[in-house]
Amino acid sequence: MNNTTNNNTDNNGPPTTKGPTFIDLGGMEEILMEIENTIIVPLVKHQKLLQKGTKFIKNGILLHGPSSCGKTTLANAIANELGLPFYSISGSEIGDKFYGESESRIREFFSKAYSTAPSIVFIDEIDAIGTQRRQNVSENNSIVIQLMSCMDECHRRSQMAGEEAGYILVIGATNRPEVLDPALRRAGRFETEILLGVPDENARADILSRKLPSFVSFDVKRIARSTPGFVPADLDALITQTNSIALERTVNMRKPNQDGRSHRWWMERWLDEAIDNLTITMDDIEKALKKVEPSLLREGFSTIPNVKWEDIFGGDIETGFLLFGPPGYGKTLIAKAVANEAGANFIYVKIDSLAAKRNNNTGERSSHRMVTQLLTELDGRDQRHGVFVIGATNKIDQIDEALLRSGRLCKRIFVPLPTPDDRGVILNALAKGRPIDQSVNLNETGRMEACKNFSGADLKCLMREAIMAAWDEAIAKSSSSEASLIHWTVKVKHFEQVVTKISPSVSKKDRERHWTLAKMFKACNI
Ligand SMILES: Nc1ncnc2c1ncn2[C@@H]1O[C@H](COP(=O)(O)OP(=O)(O)OP(=O)(O)O)[C@@H](O)[C@H]1O
Ligand SMILES: [Mg+2]
Repeated sequence: MNNTTNNNTDNNGPPTTKGPTFIDLGGMEEILMEIENTIIVPLVKHQKLLQKGTKFIKNGILLHGPSSCGKTTLANAIANELGLPFYSISGSEIGDKFYGESESRIREFFSKAYSTAPSIVFIDEIDAIGTQRRQNVSENNSIVIQLMSCMDECHRRSQMAGEEAGYILVIGATNRPEVLDPALRRAGRFETEILLGVPDENARADILSRKLPSFVSFDVKRIARSTPGFVPADLDALITQTNSIALERTVNMRKPNQDGRSHRWWMERWLDEAIDNLTITMDDIEKALKKVEPSLLREGFSTIPNVKWEDIFGGDIETGFLLFGPPGYGKTLIAKAVANEAGANFIYVKIDSLAAKRNNNTGERSSHRMVTQLLTELDGRDQRHGVFVIGATNKIDQIDEALLRSGRLCKRIFVPLPTPDDRGVILNALAKGRPIDQSVNLNETGRMEACKNFSGADLKCLMREAIMAAWDEAIAKSSSSEASLIHWTVKVKHFEQVVTKISPSVSKKDRERHWTLAKMFKACNI
């Protein structure tokens, strides 16, 4: 699918776009139906409807949702379906490139669209110009006002007959609808809002079935199941990676079996059958899956694919959890263990850096964006069948309250200090594959008074230091006996030597503060 906007600025005619149409879009059936019924029909039958005296016209649609979920693609597809002149501009371009002359740019832009009506105006990244008006920021305010007045003009023209009349559909796209000036979202302006969220398993299967070659049969269900958290752009990346793997496989088969670079084997003509061999296989996809990670993961999420939770536990249960407690107490470990134990689709979010309270004054863009993205993802739980979100934080009091609301990360679990017995369990887990002497009983080590108030991270440190102490001793002895470097083990004395050097990493004051928070946020202990 070629979705590049070809804003054909050819002087002979209005710009058009080439690229995707509705048939290329997967997992959007309901959205496309809504657009057909409420936007396309009135637009195409505009004159007829006007003659009947019907003023059923919608001038603006706002497409919103996380990055790479298809906003720009959908806007292009609407224009392609209709074959109308398509005027596309990006808000950041207006804001940056034309700083100082932004309003006149917007006016010009719209007047071109009026002149070829019916036409479509697309303002991508509209948040860059349409943010809430603020006192003392006149440049920004006047852009918003200009935009609104152009939209009102579109509305006026679409309601009249005569020379000036003409339907202009304005499509806006943003990741941050909440920062838009509320007046832009009023009736007559962007009155229809469409959320394009992260696709669920069925949507992914639908998208994949449109992107994969139709002459080979693939188990799209299985691929969809193995790609939780993948947005459409990630599925594109998966297919590109698969193509590279298939190409490499085919090329390797053709490579002459000889050493060196004696001749340019790649110049040889390819027989048709060699080209025929160049198709991707399920095996190529499996290999590509190991190399492509969802973009959400790169932004601090992690996903663990496999079986659906419902398969194991059945229907109606919480889907959002928040583990909280002091640092180093094992939240991440618990989340990962739960995910692996349950073998379910989990999205694990280390939440502090992502979801700090949104601060309208500083308007910090990335934090804003992440909170919004997270909220969209959490609210999409109905479409997100069988995907569970576990958040973890050291700073529950600094998390944006919106995230803690019912239906989101509402199940809050305080992760306390390990008990003396837990400490033994943790040490045993940390000892796996380590040269711990048989004489050491790690349960007893864990119960030592010196380990009081140790967190999981402190115990890890204890284990590391004890191993280092044993190794140092082995090195010291190696001058007299080389065998000491082969047969060294960590003994009780090594733990005792180092334990006094480690003090609990979370202070008494902080421990108490976290307990108070635990009560405040009504935690259930695990
Ligand atoms: N429903 C879909 N079906 C098939 N492919 C899709 C779909 N949605 C998006 N894509 C593909 O994903 C890619 C990213 O989509 P797009 O650029 O439209 O996202 P966006 O929401 O505009 O992102 P951003 O907020 O970062 O601008 C596109 O190249 C397109 O090929
Ligand atoms: Mg876009």
